[in-house]
Amino acid sequence: MSDSGGPLVLGIESSCDETGIGIVRGRELLANEVASSVAEHVRFGGVVPEVASRAHLSAMVPALRRACASADVDLSELDGIAVTAGPGLMGALVVGLSAAKALAVALNKPLYGVNHLIGHVAVDLLDHGPLPAECAALLVSGGHSSLLHVRDITGEVSELGATIDDAAGEAYDKVARVLGLAYPGGPAIDELAAQGNPKAIAFPRGLTAGKDQAKHRFDYSFSGLKTAVSRWVETERLAGREVPTADVAASFQEAVADVLTAKAVAACNYLGVDTLLLGGGVAANSRLRTLLAERTAAVGVTLRRPRPGLCTDNGAMIAVLGSAVVAAGRRPSALEIGADPGMPISTVLA
Ligand code: KG4
Ligand code: ZN
Repeated sequence: MSDSGGPLVLGIESSCDETGIGIVRGRELLANEVASSVAEHVRFGGVVPEVASRAHLSAMVPALRRACASADVDLSELDGIAVTAGPGLMGALVVGLSAAKALAVALNKPLYGVNHLIGHVAVDLLDHGPLPAECAALLVSGGHSSLLHVRDITGEVSELGATIDDAAGEAYDKVARVLGLAYPGGPAIDELAAQGNPKAIAFPRGLTAGKDQAKHRFDYSFSGLKTAVSRWVETERLAGREVPTADVAASFQEAVADVLTAKAVAACNYLGVDTLLLGGGVAANSRLRTLLAERTAAVGVTLRRPRPGLCTDNGAMIAVLGSAVVAAGRRPSALEIGADPGMPISTVLA
């Protein structure tokens, strides 16, 4: 192993529209270069897979060069190469995986194909150090909204509940479109909501009724909320009234944050754990962060929130998960591994 401080690992992320290269030594962040193709998708209102794949191909080597320069690390010093093996867009994943395999072969370094979603929750190791023996995690990304039981971030993660329809991030993006805001909708709604009244409109809280507790106690549903917002806005427009977009954004955001946090706290209680880990792009949301801090504090649960800049897709989250996997002595992935667009959350390492 290189130097003191833990394994020196390069992380490559290319599951969606961000090309991310991170370098960590143990839990120390040395470089985090992100090249986003988001501007190329804006006019389509969502990520176009083919466009994302091509963007990864041209961004990969420059981002790798920048990361090595800013970390002052030579590739020959690495202890391992970690890469997102899934879930994500097939063509996009293949670009990162091919780059990682090429580096692993050329440098004769072990390859670790890791789960993008576990990377989202593992990134907090960089900000707040080692995890307790067990904890719960709230994972909220563009495609996933799940409650997890984490016994070992390098190999033992199970899902307690998940969305049964849209993910929270998806709902943000769709509601933003209804309100005429640009893609991606999350940051735009977050900003607009700051000027609105979160109590102005009582939007539905999915799967929180008594009848849902038996089957869906730890599951989420955001499709009904999204439809309720669309109908509300449509009714106002048809009636010729001006839509109070800031109030709609704030009330929608409140409904999302309310359900996400209530169920996350209930999951900690159910699992008997005293730590909650937050991760995923939606974890950058200001209201979710505040409400979760209030509600966890009220029940004596320690909340671990990565800084907002590490919540959306990046290479550092893959590098730090890779470093934890190396430190735990896990076996490297075979060079033959493929990209797995539907990689299950229980699979940390391919
Ligand atoms: O984790 P992520 O970067 O990519 C996936 O793995 O999917 O998450 C992207 C999602 C998008 O839906 C985006 O709108 C949302 O995260 N997002 C936010 C915020 N920043 C990003 N949602 C709410 N508030 C934010 N500040
Ligand atoms: Zn992500």
